[in-house]
Amino acid sequence: MNHRGVTIWFTGLSGAGKTTITQALEKKLRAADVKLEVLDGDIVRTNLTKGLGFSKEDRDENIRRIGFVSHLLTRNGVIVLVSAISPYRAIREEVRQRIGDFVEVFVNAPLAVCEERDVKGLYKRARSGEIKQFTGISDPYEPPTKPEIECRTDLEELSESVDKVWNKLVEMGYLQ
Ligand code: PPS
Ligand code: MG
Repeated sequence: MNHRGVTIWFTGLSGAGKTTITQALEKKLRAADVKLEVLDGDIVRTNLTKGLGFSKEDRDENIRRIGFVSHLLTRNGVIVLVSAISPYRAIREEVRQRIGDFVEVFVNAPLAVCEERDVKGLYKRARSGEIKQFTGISDPYEPPTKPEIECRTDLEELSESVDKVWNKLVEMGYLQ
């Protein structure tokens, strides 16, 4: 398929489904033979942003670096899938302004659902106080006010979420 560079930014609580949707979308985009890269917070934190923690300053620095790389790729025609909690609205807006070609996806599931899933056992450790500054438990999450897309992962199927993003990319002219 023909495509233009764009950053698709998945934000949401831990366990909301950011990585899951990103991976499914990646598969579909690869099948369509588009140039793409994935930047997932969990992986980026083992290299590009290694050593950063979860204070507001460190999270913002993490997002700024991810945004910087996304910008470089986007302006070279790559479709970039970013999956990061990115809890602070102001830094998400800063990155949006810098990149320009930016689509924000709010991966939304109620905290209670994410905690119930507890895929990595992190919520349990956050509740016991073992992990400090855990998003949604002991650290803030500022939901987007005007995301291009919202995926309610507790109410919709994975394929529905993926299709929503795909259709938006077509509608906005990034995919044709
Ligand atoms: S941020 O806020 O955007 O800088 O976070 P991100 O780079 O996406 O990293 C989130 C992943 O780190 C794990 N983890 C934590 N998340 C939130 N709060 C705290 N304190 C924390 N400590 C570790 C967790 O696996 C997150 O991955 P996801 O995929 O979101 O569950
Ligand atoms: Mg993840």
